[in-house]
Amino acid sequence: MSNIDVTVREVGLRDGLQLVKSFVPTETKLAWAQAVAAAGIPEIEITNFVPPKVIAQFADATELAKAALRIAGPNGPKIAALAPNRKGAENMLMAGVRNVNFVLSVSEGHNQSNVRKTTDQSFAEFENVVSLRNERPEWKGIRIQGCLATSFGCTIEGRVDPERVLRFVDRYLSLGADEILLADTVGYACPSEVHNLFSHTVSLASGKPVYAHFHDTRGLGLANVYAALEAGVRGFDASTGGLGGCPFAPGASGNIVMEDLVFLLEKEGLRTGVDLEKYREARKIAEAALPDENFYGTILRAGLPKGFTPPTKLLAAE
Ligand code: COA
Ligand code: ZN
Repeated sequence: MSNIDVTVREVGLRDGLQLVKSFVPTETKLAWAQAVAAAGIPEIEITNFVPPKVIAQFADATELAKAALRIAGPNGPKIAALAPNRKGAENMLMAGVRNVNFVLSVSEGHNQSNVRKTTDQSFAEFENVVSLRNERPEWKGIRIQGCLATSFGCTIEGRVDPERVLRFVDRYLSLGADEILLADTVGYACPSEVHNLFSHTVSLASGKPVYAHFHDTRGLGLANVYAALEAGVRGFDASTGGLGGCPFAPGASGNIVMEDLVFLLEKEGLRTGVDLEKYREARKIAEAALPDENFYGTILRAGLPKGFTPPTKLLAAE
């Protein structure tokens, strides 16, 4: 989309729901996604294609993805989903989703805990996902994002070597990734580390989109966003009210808050396409569906500064 400067991607329905024990009904998830779309969010990670016995919350992945694609239509948000292996990617493609976010972890310990594989085995799985492009003519143009969890540290192994992250970025690109995402799965990163690692990643990606995925576990989420922006990143994950966390990473907690991310970007003069007033509805639906979860964020509570008109609104008024 050319009328936005930065892509914000809603991951509340995927990352946000991973730690939620009670199953959220499919129609509630859909209403949430619909409100997110109505607010102008350009991309939604709608679900996670994993076996229901691993994460029961995503037992409705196929049904939800199909319905979300119907709602989005050709002019709505891009619908993406996560998969940790070929089987998940195949199920996703059969449901009609064409934006595959494949995940592996830079840390061996987290990769074992999360997907029960070595990182080499996960890369072999990634090759199998890429080869799906050749299996059916209609799958040829699918977009595959190579996501690297624990890029800034791991609660199982501690420090993660940035050189290793860059080797993994390179490996993804040489195997056919269209986009790269670096995730700070457990909220260990600080701005200078973010700036450094993303600058190199953006350069390696040579024009391919690079996304950042931050958790606000230690309060540095938005500071890290700013550092990534300065490094050239133009895609950011965030979730409604900051809901989220990986069930296979001890101590994981919430994503950065979508509402506050949009405010930061718009205050910096960057158009997101998002109407924060309309986004309230998404938050209302999620809060009503999840009365036991904590929802964070300040901007919807405090309101926009007096006299400030977000650039997205200015554009709409032209
Ligand atoms: N979706 C549905 N079913 C799947 C599947 C998928 N993505 N991947 C594997 N299966 C099925 C297999 O067909 C097999 O079925 P069967 O027992 O009927 O033959 C069964 O699950 C076991 O398959 P296997 O390949 O041995 O998987 P595993 O038990 O080693 O688990 C993962 C590996 C990757 C599927 C599992 O660890 C996982 O889902 N992890 C996801 C973690 C995650 O999403 N974390 C949060 C996001 S970062
Ligand atoms: Zn996450």
